[in-house]
Amino acid sequence: MIDEKISQKYLKKIKLFQKYNKYYYDLNKPLVDDSEFDKLKLEIINFEKKYNFLNHKDSPSNSVGFKPSKIFKKIKHKTPMLSLNNAFSEEDLVNFEKKISNFLNNEPGLNIEYSAEPKIDGISASLLFKDGKFITGLSRGDGKEGEDITENLKTIKDIPHEIKLKSFPKEIDIRGEVFIQNSDFKDLRNKFANPRNAASGSLRQKDPKETQKIPLKFIAYTFGYEKGLEATSQEDYLKRLKEWGFKTNPLNNKIKTIKDLIKNYNEIEKKRDQIDFDIDGIVYKINDFSLQKRLGYVANAPRWAIAHKFSANSGISKIENIEIQIGRTGALTPVAKIKPVNIGGVVVSNATLHNEEEINRKDIRIGDTVLIERAGDVIPHVISVDLKLRNKNSKKFDFPKNCPSCGSETVKDFNLTTKKEDAVRRCSSEGYECEKMAIEKIKHFVSKEAFNIDGFGKKIVENFWNLNLIKFPHDIFKLDYVKIENLEGWGKQSVANLKYSINQKKKISFEKFIYALGIRHIGLENAKIISKNLKSLKNFIYLSKQNNFDNLINIDGIGETQINSIKNFFRNSTNLHVLTNLEKILTVKNAESQKTDGIFSDKTFMFTGKLSNMSRSEAKSLIEQNSGSIVSNVTKKLDYLIVGEKPTNRKIETAKNLKVKILDQSSWLKMLK
Ligand code: IVH
Repeated sequence: MIDEKISQKYLKKIKLFQKYNKYYYDLNKPLVDDSEFDKLKLEIINFEKKYNFLNHKDSPSNSVGFKPSKIFKKIKHKTPMLSLNNAFSEEDLVNFEKKISNFLNNEPGLNIEYSAEPKIDGISASLLFKDGKFITGLSRGDGKEGEDITENLKTIKDIPHEIKLKSFPKEIDIRGEVFIQNSDFKDLRNKFANPRNAASGSLRQKDPKETQKIPLKFIAYTFGYEKGLEATSQEDYLKRLKEWGFKTNPLNNKIKTIKDLIKNYNEIEKKRDQIDFDIDGIVYKINDFSLQKRLGYVANAPRWAIAHKFSANSGISKIENIEIQIGRTGALTPVAKIKPVNIGGVVVSNATLHNEEEINRKDIRIGDTVLIERAGDVIPHVISVDLKLRNKNSKKFDFPKNCPSCGSETVKDFNLTTKKEDAVRRCSSEGYECEKMAIEKIKHFVSKEAFNIDGFGKKIVENFWNLNLIKFPHDIFKLDYVKIENLEGWGKQSVANLKYSINQKKKISFEKFIYALGIRHIGLENAKIISKNLKSLKNFIYLSKQNNFDNLINIDGIGETQINSIKNFFRNSTNLHVLTNLEKILTVKNAESQKTDGIFSDKTFMFTGKLSNMSRSEAKSLIEQNSGSIVSNVTKKLDYLIVGEKPTNRKIETAKNLKVKILDQSSWLKMLK
């Protein structure tokens, strides 16, 4: 009798465990937090220990190990999946077109046409087809490597498994968006917050049978790597996609002028609620592929495309307090804590005030009634103060002259480029000496573009910091997992996942490593440039050991500001301590040599004077495409000085003295045939 009661109690627990598992793994919607989940597991195991007649196939004691869940195999994209720069206004579009024209040297007769494509807010995917067969499907991931979600993608009806048409390229990564139509989302409303989450959750199901139950759609709009694609423009490519059996966006349009882009934008924005899928803007791409090729890429986005986001939403609220946040480079950012207000479906309770100057300029005070704007993914900000509603007793906001975190003096730097004092006030302490800066540095270190440690979010960094588990980036690789397992909210499974994610990142590219260090003025693009030029961490550290930074001077794109910042970084003993420790723990891969088989391989170039029919940026990009590099000083290391109209004579003289080859533009272009 008693045994039966125990069995019943045990079975009840097993049933609950099965339910939690189903919601966690299959529905991607945990019912309880990890600690609750682990508590139940422990109860079951202890029960079994106490009454050894108890057993069930679904008991946690029968599950094999604690394999990390929901982690798909990662595969490198042959061509990275880029993001898009954003435009919010007509002015942004005018600037976009101006930059393009300048890059293309304002060629007379330049006929810019755009492919305007409503930007579906779903999940992007890259589908590799070889010899007409769908082979692998990847998620975007961090843009460089994605997750292998082939089996799940295969369940989507819009994705053909085989294309037998002759016009289909030998190999191609077809790229597009996976999404759920609003009408289909209705039935899923109780499971997911919005259609995008529903698409993402369904795509990342462990079991493709679960994915199949969700009516996912796929619209194709671009491609990655290709061999044998015959298309000369985006319009042409979109047509072919249709021929091959892919769906394309029915609202795509070819447009010539900015005026018409705006007209189209307004029309589509008006129709937005009637369209059966969520769109958050319109993507404009230069239609002509040969122009796209010339324009190339900057950092993570193409020069030839931009996303025109739908207009901002705004709302009125009251500033309850102004708090100062300290960023990883010490910048003091004032944030208005506002009375929560719903703006375009999102509850907003914080709005950035940018910097001290902005507060002064707009005379923003605690207690003020303000107009708040929220545009796309941009942090909400204060547009204006309603002075009529201001309390008579309100006082001007006093910006702190000392860092609220460490008490150090706050300073405004002198900007070498603008020759003006910065608008931003900063904590003058060096990085890790200021608690708030140190925490932000670690958050940056684990962030998506840096080490990209899955599951190591901002909250965890703060939590681990407060528990003294991490004080420096290298502590991440020496975590006390036993201690973590006993923390509230953690359990065996989640600790195993974390450990797995961290261990995966012990091998890292040199470029990501430099970026992750969070050196001021060394963002993604500069980290990439340094990595490309210095090749290895050893060379980087060597700079400081020799206290000789000359190697940086010649790198095009790295200026005085960046070099001073790197010098400052190395001057600080804590930074050196962090660097030494990281070097011991990690394997920092040397920079992959760029394509070195180009005609300018190993050659350095410098320009002086104006080039004809070509902008400097295009010339630079041409050299780089052919494996050459640009330097910004005439030294012995320079191979060619290319002379345009009205050159700097001093440069030519120095080049002559150093026996550097001097070419005019046409001889240089002849080298390229
Ligand atoms: S082209 C290099 N075209 O927007 C070109 N992207 O921020 C990049 N998206 O992750 C992609 N509609 O998920 C392109 N017609 C369209 C698009 C589109 C939506 C998304 C895509 C990408 C993001 C870029």
